[in-house]
Amino acid sequence: MDSTISFISLLAYALYFMLPAYLANVSALAFGGGAPVDLKKNFTDGRRLLGDGVTWRGTIIGIIIGTLIAALQGVIFMYYGDVFAMLPGWTNLAGIIPNGYGEWILLGLALSGGALIGDAAGSFLKRRINIERGRPAPFLDQLDFVIGALILASIVVTIPLSVIILIIIFSAILHLAANTIAYLLGLKNVWY
Ligand code: CTP
Ligand code: MG
Repeated sequence: MDSTISFISLLAYALYFMLPAYLANVSALAFGGGAPVDLKKNFTDGRRLLGDGVTWRGTIIGIIIGTLIAALQGVIFMYYGDVFAMLPGWTNLAGIIPNGYGEWILLGLALSGGALIGDAAGSFLKRRINIERGRPAPFLDQLDFVIGALILASIVVTIPLSVIILIIIFSAILHLAANTIAYLLGLKNVWY
């Protein structure tokens, strides 16, 4: 029972922590479009650097929304920090909580920027192995943004290994679910 509670609270923290990255990704998907980041340039292999799925508008709106979410999380923590501290297993997680409001903003920038850089790096790799824009690359599609977000966030806060593993597994599941919904809504034209 105790371990179930610890697991659930660990999962809840992990998902809450990753909100800026998730919302950056979803915002890019929902509001993206227009000029591609690679400005339609090709790499030395003659294929697109990144492709039409990585756009300036999606990247910028994603980073703004992700950072705003972290700013809001920082305000919530200022008022309810004591409540967080009462939750089970909290002491193990203290390292992933930013110190002060400025660090919340930095964490938001790192998580949302990291998510979109990771996603763009995934697109770069897909083009190199000749997978067309929008075609599935299992594991890479689900994990590129998570890895990017975790790497940049690690500059700002200390993330325990258990939390990293949990985040990787659950983010992949969420990504699959979100993309299925996006496909059903017509925001994506292929399902994977
Ligand atoms: N998107 C965007 N800008 C970004 C990331 C995503 O505009 N920086 C939008 C694009 O409309 C993109 C959609 O979100 O088509 C879904 O993103 P993703 O699944 O990563 O792109 P794909 O179209 O599948 O392209 P790729 O094969 O390069 O991953
Ligand atoms: Mg992608």
